[in-house]
Amino acid sequence: MATDPDPETTGTGYLSADHDRLDALLVELTALVAAGDLAPAARLLGGFAAGLGRHIRLEDELLFPTFARVTGHDGPTAVMREEHRMIEEHLAGMEAALAGGDPAAFTLERAALVAVLGDHNVKEEAIVYPLTDDHLPDGARARLVAELRAFR
Ligand SMILES: [Fe+2]
Repeated sequence: MATDPDPETTGTGYLSADHDRLDALLVELTALVAAGDLAPAARLLGGFAAGLGRHIRLEDELLFPTFARVTGHDGPTAVMREEHRMIEEHLAGMEAALAGGDPAAFTLERAALVAVLGDHNVKEEAIVYPLTDDHLPDGARARLVAELRAFR
């Protein structure tokens, strides 16, 4: 099995590790809602939404423009941006559902989010991130990783 790309030196590694971190938060969040622990679930959702929101902005504002510049193509990232808007809608739906104390509505919105997010993350990790890394010389790749880490 290939080793995972290094989160310290590649955009692929850094962004894939952030996907994994957010996926783990979503698993924890889903378990809290299933157990009826809605107050801690709402707090965790706040952290998940902030983390996912940052990840999306980081791609829209930094990674995707870099991809378009180094590859000369913006078609793949245009699709990714459209999917970001769908992800944001379902995330807002999850927040509204928990704020309204409606776990059934939360579950529907969460399923809709996962339906978009699963394939979306696979496409990013398999295509968008590695192509960006591959087109950057080592020094420029190191600068991209530093910018990704510093992004707020
Ligand atoms: Fe994305």
